[in-house]
Order: sequence, then structure tokens, then C-alpha cells
Amino acid sequence: MKDNFNRNIDYLRISIIDRCNLRCIYCMPEEGISNLLPHHEILSYEEILKIVEIGVDLGITKIRITGGEPLLRKGIVSFIERLAKIEGIQDIGMTTNGVLLKKFAKDLYKAGLKRVNVSLDSLNQDKFRTITRVGSIGEVLDGIEEANKVGLKPVKVNVVVMKGINDDEIEKFALWSKEVEYQIRFIEFMPIGQNAWKKELFMPKDEIKEKIENKIGKLIPFQMKKSGPAEYFMLEGAKGIVGFISPITTHICVRCNRLRLTAEGKLRPCLFSDRELDLKRILRSGASTEEIKETIIRTIHLKPQGMSEQSQPLRPMSTIGG
Ligand code: 5AD
Ligand code: SF4
Repeated sequence: MKDNFNRNIDYLRISIIDRCNLRCIYCMPEEGISNLLPHHEILSYEEILKIVEIGVDLGITKIRITGGEPLLRKGIVSFIERLAKIEGIQDIGMTTNGVLLKKFAKDLYKAGLKRVNVSLDSLNQDKFRTITRVGSIGEVLDGIEEANKVGLKPVKVNVVVMKGINDDEIEKFALWSKEVEYQIRFIEFMPIGQNAWKKELFMPKDEIKEKIENKIGKLIPFQMKKSGPAEYFMLEGAKGIVGFISPITTHICVRCNRLRLTAEGKLRPCLFSDRELDLKRILRSGASTEEIKETIIRTIHLKPQGMSEQSQPLRPMSTIGG
């Protein structure tokens, strides 16, 4: 279905849990989110599947499962299996922190998951620990390797760049793309929720690119069939690819094709907007399929043209899922 700005909305991102086993500095306070959702406030798998089925009628073909950390939710493999069986769903991806990925990769792939995006902001154990506060990098690296091995590929590695924190590793990450067949994607740090965002920590895409080209070599543009908001490049002779997602310095909104469903069942037209429609309330009030469809259509019409119309969203990233 088209929105008011002629963008084709075919992609639904679903946060299935607000809990996480890491405490990334840009996402959560050290003690974790204090007002975690009680279980009954989280959409059940049945409710999510119902929303997806209705979404398919409106042209949704692509799903991404996010969190919190989606692999913490019980029954995730059979949920993916049921999702993959919905006719009209062509593509299911997942965004994970990778900590539990080694254990789940094979079963997820067998269940019908196509790909994973893994968040990894440092290749150094100490730094990784500083950023995630509790994580150990070995588990994540093992998870990435396993995912690639079982066929969840290409694995996308998401690196949120923060000046003075991990910008000294940009080169190392880019060099990594020469050796492995992953897509290493540098993401501009966004102000979201009450997070640690500060102007001083922000590094624009052009600066990241320049660092790579100065130190390593030319980034050769690489045309991906469906690249979404990312721009892709290759270093000479590389097995993998380097990508950039620059929500702050480029106009990625013109190509935005997505809706977001939060763990508590709110449908959001835009990451940068706190306007959301309460699908859960409508579902649980016994609404008809037609009424639910109407709500989804209304949300699509609420999509703003761009994020410039929006202010910093208040909801923390862990409940939206990126
Ligand atoms: N800016 C940019 N990326 C973010 N992520 C979480 N918070 C931010 C932020 N403020 C990323 C995570 C993960 C994805 C879900 O979003 O690192 O890759
Ligand atoms: Fe967890 Fe992702 Fe938030 Fe890190 S950014 S604390 S991995 S939800």
C-alpha cells in the first residue's frame, strides 16, 4: 500500500520483547529499563501473527523481528516457523545482539528465517564491555560465524559509530570486510529516548567514509538490489561489503517503506515520531479484521514525509527495536 508521499509500505518491523541481556550505553540506563512491560502487556505470538496476516492483505511482504533482544523470548523458533508459513511473506530477518545466536542459528534458519543483522560496536573485548556494560564479545563473534555457516546470510554487522568511543575502530571494522563475507554497516548515532546521545559523540557518515578511504583505500560503490536506507561500497579485493546508514546526514526518509510494531502492540508510522496507534487495545476489544485493517491504513497515512517534522522520540530504542 502507498502512503501519502507515494512510498510503498511493504515492510513491518516487529519488536517482540522489551527485555535485553545487554545494557548498551546508547540504549539503556545501567540498571536496565525500570518500567519493563508486564507479560500480559506484551503482544502474544497469536496476536502478532494475526496482525501480520492482515498486513499481508495491505501489501506487507517483508518482516523483521527485533527487541530488546528477540532471542530471549520463549518459543521464538516455532514463532518464526509459523510466521514463515503465512502466505505472502517473502522475507523474514532478525536484528539481534548475537549473544544467543550460536545456539539458535541453525534452528532459526530451518524455521524460515532468512537473515540476521547483528549489532557489534567494537572488536575489542574491553571496549565491547564498556559499550554493552555486560557483554562478552566471543559469544557474539561465534554467533555471527555460526549464522553465516548455517546460511543466514549475508550477515549484516551493525556498528553504531560514537566519536571518542569506537571511532578508533572504524579502520579495523572496514579491514574486516576484506576477510569475511559479511556486510559491515556503519550507522550514525541517533538521539533516541533518553539515551547517551551528545553532539560531541556524533560522527557523520562523510567523516567515517573519509577515514576509511584515507587509511585503507578507495570505497567502490556497490549496487545492491534492495538496499533500503543503506549505501554500499567495496574495498578492493574484499570478500565482504561496507555499508553506511546515515539517518542524520542524508535524506533516507524518501525511501522509507516501513511500519513498526512495538512489543506492547503500538503501531508506529515513523521511528522518529511518538505518534502511535494502539493496535493491542483494538485487537483485545474484539475488533473485526476490517477494523484492524482500518487502523493499519490510518497509521500508514500518518507517516510523516521526513524526520525533520519530528522531534527526538521519547520511547527508548529497546522497545522500538531500531
Ligand atoms: N543510534 C543508532 N543506532 C542505534 N541502535 C540502537 N540505538 C541506536 C541509536 N541511538 C542500533 C543498534 C542495533 C539496531 C537495532 O539499532 O545497535 O543495531
Ligand atoms: Fe540490547 Fe540492542 Fe539495546 Fe544493546 S541496543 S541494550 S543489544 S536492545
